[in-house]
Formats: sequence, C-alpha cells, structure tokens
Amino acid sequence: MNEHSTDWWKKAVVYQIYPQSFKDSNGDGIGDINGIREKLPYLKELGIDVIWLNPIYQSPMVDNGYDVSDYYAIQAEFGTMADFEAMLSEAHALGLKLIMDLVVCASSSEHQWFQESKKSKNNPYSDFYIWKDPKADGSAPNNWGSIFGAGSCWEYVPERGQYYLHLFATEMPDLNWDNPELRQEVYKNMRFWLDMGIDGFRLDSISLISKKLEFPDNPAAVEGEFGSPYFGASNGPRVHEFLQEMNREVLSHYDVMTVGEATRTPVEEAVKYCEPSRHELNMIFQFDHMHVDYGEYGRYSDLRFKLSDLKSSMVKWQTALSGRGWNSLYWDNHDQPRVVSRFGNERPEFRELSAKMLATVLHFQQGTPYIFQGEEIGMTNAKFDNIEDYRDLEAHNMYRKFQGLGLSEKETLRYLNYKSRDNARTPMQWSGEDKAGFTAAESWIALNPNYKEINVSSALADKNSVFYYYQELIRLRKELEVMIDGTFEMVNPEDSDVFSYIRHREGEKLLVIASFSDKKISFELPDNLRIKKQQKIIGNYDDEVKMKGQELYLRPYEALVYWLK
Ligand code: GLC
Ligand code: CA
Repeated sequence: MNEHSTDWWKKAVVYQIYPQSFKDSNGDGIGDINGIREKLPYLKELGIDVIWLNPIYQSPMVDNGYDVSDYYAIQAEFGTMADFEAMLSEAHALGLKLIMDLVVCASSSEHQWFQESKKSKNNPYSDFYIWKDPKADGSAPNNWGSIFGAGSCWEYVPERGQYYLHLFATEMPDLNWDNPELRQEVYKNMRFWLDMGIDGFRLDSISLISKKLEFPDNPAAVEGEFGSPYFGASNGPRVHEFLQEMNREVLSHYDVMTVGEATRTPVEEAVKYCEPSRHELNMIFQFDHMHVDYGEYGRYSDLRFKLSDLKSSMVKWQTALSGRGWNSLYWDNHDQPRVVSRFGNERPEFRELSAKMLATVLHFQQGTPYIFQGEEIGMTNAKFDNIEDYRDLEAHNMYRKFQGLGLSEKETLRYLNYKSRDNARTPMQWSGEDKAGFTAAESWIALNPNYKEINVSSALADKNSVFYYYQELIRLRKELEVMIDGTFEMVNPEDSDVFSYIRHREGEKLLVIASFSDKKISFELPDNLRIKKQQKIIGNYDDEVKMKGQELYLRPYEALVYWLK
C-alpha cells in the first residue's frame, strides 16, 4: 500500500462550485466549464486550495446532474472533455486542486447499464441494480418511501416482472453494490478520472450504498404510509467492507483526498469511515447540525434553530473525532439553504456581520472548511414566492405533498422559502449589472433580486466586505498551526447567545467568541482566561469591544478571536 507523506487536505480550504449556477460563458443561461475557467483567478484571490465540482457528467438532468447516464462523458451544456482538461490544467497551474463528485449510489435510468438491466433477469447487467419480486398481491416489496418525497422507493417494470429500488427519484435506480462486477466498473471509472489528474472525490450518498438484503419493512412507518428508507440503507451491513476494497484497489494508489456524504451517520459510526488506520475515507460530511431546525414535516419547516442545539451538535463532533478521524466543516452546500438566512440574519444592518461571525465560528474549528459558492459574499435565500420559480424536483414533490396534506399555499411556500435547495442554486452574483454578470441570457433559474446590493464586484471594492474576511480566515489557516491541529474546548457551554471555544497546541492557545444575538449582550469570561486587545487575531467590528474586568460587551453578531496568554 502506498503511504502518502502528507495529509495536505487537513490544511486545505475547499470551495464548492455548482456548475449550472457559477458562470455562463456562452449565453445559454447555464453555467459551464469555460465559465469556471474565467473565474479561476477569482478563486485564487480568495485563497482557497481545492475546488469541489458538483457533477458535470452526461445526464438527463432530472436531479441536476446527480442522475448520471455516462460516467465517462461531460454533459454537453457544460462543455467538452477538452474544456474539462483545460480547466484542470489551468487550475493546477494556479496551484488549485480539483475534486469531483462521484455519484455511484444510483445512476440515471437512461444509463446503458439500466437500459440493459431492465430487459431481463439474465443479461450481463441484470444484477447491476436492485430488483425484487412483487409481493403476492403484486404490490411493492416493502414500505420504503423515496427520500425526495414522491411515493414508493420501488418502481415496477413489466418487461422483467419485477420492481427496482430507487431511494431518490424514480429516474435514479440504485446501483447494486453487492455485485462485484458493478464495483469493478466503479473503480475503473474512478481510475479514469484520477489518471487524468484530478485530486480526489466527494462521494455522493456513500453511506447509503449497502442495503439490508432482507429489505425489511420500516416498522416505524404509520400503517398505510411510507417509511423512511434510511432505516434499511444507512450505514448498511457491507458499507465499510466496500470502502476498504475501494481504498485498496483505487484510492491508496493516488495522493488524493476523499470526503463521503454520510447522511444519518452518528458520530460513533463516522469514526469508522475516517479513522486512518481503517483505510476508508479521509472525512465525511455529517448532517447533525443540519437537523437543528427540522419541524413536524422534517426538513421543510419554518422552525428557527436554538443555539444550544447547534453548539451541542458541533461540539459533539469536534470532541468525538479529535485524534481519531477528521471533520469536514460546512454551513452551506447545494442541498441546503443559505447560512446567513438560516443561522445568521439577512437584515441589511446584520447580513455582513452575521456572515463573518458564522465564518469565524466554523473556520476556527478542527477540520477542513468547505465554502459554497456565494457564501464568501454573504448571499442569502432567494425565497421564491411562486412555485413556478422553483426548479428542484424535491421542491415540487414537497409542494404536492403539502398541498395533499391540506396545507395552505402560503404555509407551503413558507417552508420552501426557508429550506428549498433552490435557495443555494440561484446564480452566482458577480456584479450589479443586468443578470448579475452571470449570463447574457435568461438564467435557467431566476436570480435572487438582491444581486444589485450583494455581488462580487462590490465585495471586491470594499475592504470590509465578507469576501476579504474569508480571505483573511483562509490566510490565517495557512499561518496558524493551532487552527489545524489544536485541541478544542468549549468556553461557557451553557451560554444561550454566545458560541465560544479555545484551540490549544504546544504553547499556542486561542480563544474564539461569537455572538448569535442581534442585540448588545454581555459575556463573562471565566477567571482563568485573560485577554488583551493587542492580542486580537481577527474580529468583525472595526473598533475594539468594550471590556470591564472579565466582562465583554458584545455588539450584535460580534465575533472575536484572541491569543491567550
Ligand atoms: C446527494 C446530493 C443531492 C442529490 C442526492 C441524490 O444528497 O448532494 O444533491 O439530490 O444525493 O443523488
Ligand atoms: Ca452556458
């Protein structure tokens, strides 16, 4: 096994690009690879190290590219393979690495494997997917319901007289990882991209690849309703075996980084994915802190989070993985609403302050930080007030579901306003000019109308902008070892408005203080912690905070980081 000398990904900051919405270079309203190439210098200026690119493979785009119909081809609207190779070498020339999404929990139903598989029970691809006989009465094999909220996880195919499993959309049949031939096909594809020179993978839905082979009904489901399929698919019986095989056969032969998307993975299980001695992945995306504002209908809710929940969930991960695995640190991605709107405050007087505060809380924790496009300028939720403006199939499924439950239009849209994935997917706001400098045409999804105020060109022109604050955080990470491997310890864990912690490493000790309140509040430091204003490392107000003894008078959303003696 190759042992690679550096864990470079521990020091890296990753920037996530959602290609559809990043930059359109050819005026068709859809972002593309050549658009990304134009903006590489911008990313270099921000200071990030790695780009994570959402899927750009050939796809019917039912789920914006997560339904792949050819893992070796680039979707035409994004460009060509030559464009891709040019992007990769230009990124490398700038010292930027690039990781791709590996989407192998399911494929598109238009993938040639599925087209063959569905024909019969005995062709070379028959077992590439998960097929089950109907129950005696002809109904689906069990009560699992699709994660996207559109009915059963099973779809009947008359040609085979069987049902196939799809955890997500009907057009996304789950691949059968229990079939070794399928696994070899996946590894072959990984080598194809790795040999081209990419620097790793984000492994989509990877905690869901191994299913309980008895396919039991979910006993928690209400009679006559669908049950969550996570129960039969999350962290399934062979998932670690599969990842160890993948590591042995592919990953260990390259000096690359891996991050697995691991929905519904408790921290004890997470360690199994990322403890180095197990040779699986470098880190996972966990979701505990994304669950703090779930409501009666799950994710789609208008509930506001409680800081105590957010703190305890983050602290749990900081503590449990310390010295064992490695955390990924994120607020935002293409599946989540915008963090300023969610955990901060989008009102004009607080938007930038709270964006900087949230960035501080995250970037000083132990782990690899991920920035989602637009986060670095403090973009906010789009809050479309008309269902027609939503593009995400999940938003439309939820809309139908809520209408079916008898919720009013207003209430339904309120939930989508808060939580729809489209909040993250509106085009990147490059300038205050027409179409936000994203495209020359009509964009594939509406722009957030606030692009005139919130955009890259005004951020670059303002030395106090959120952009430069992120730039400084990234720079500090390169300079301060304690940000990488210092231990983590909470300060005043019970405080209802302030998230405060210490990072500590061989004689270096720093203190992070972050207020989540929109009011001026007092914060009392424990007696053993002394700070001096000369020892401030970063903060989001220009002038000094007022202090009296151990008492600090924090202004709304104030964030402060100090060296401790
Ligand atoms: C992951 C992706 C999400 C996609 C789903 C199905 O959760 O992040 O965007 O819809 O997998 O592939
Ligand atoms: Ca385009």
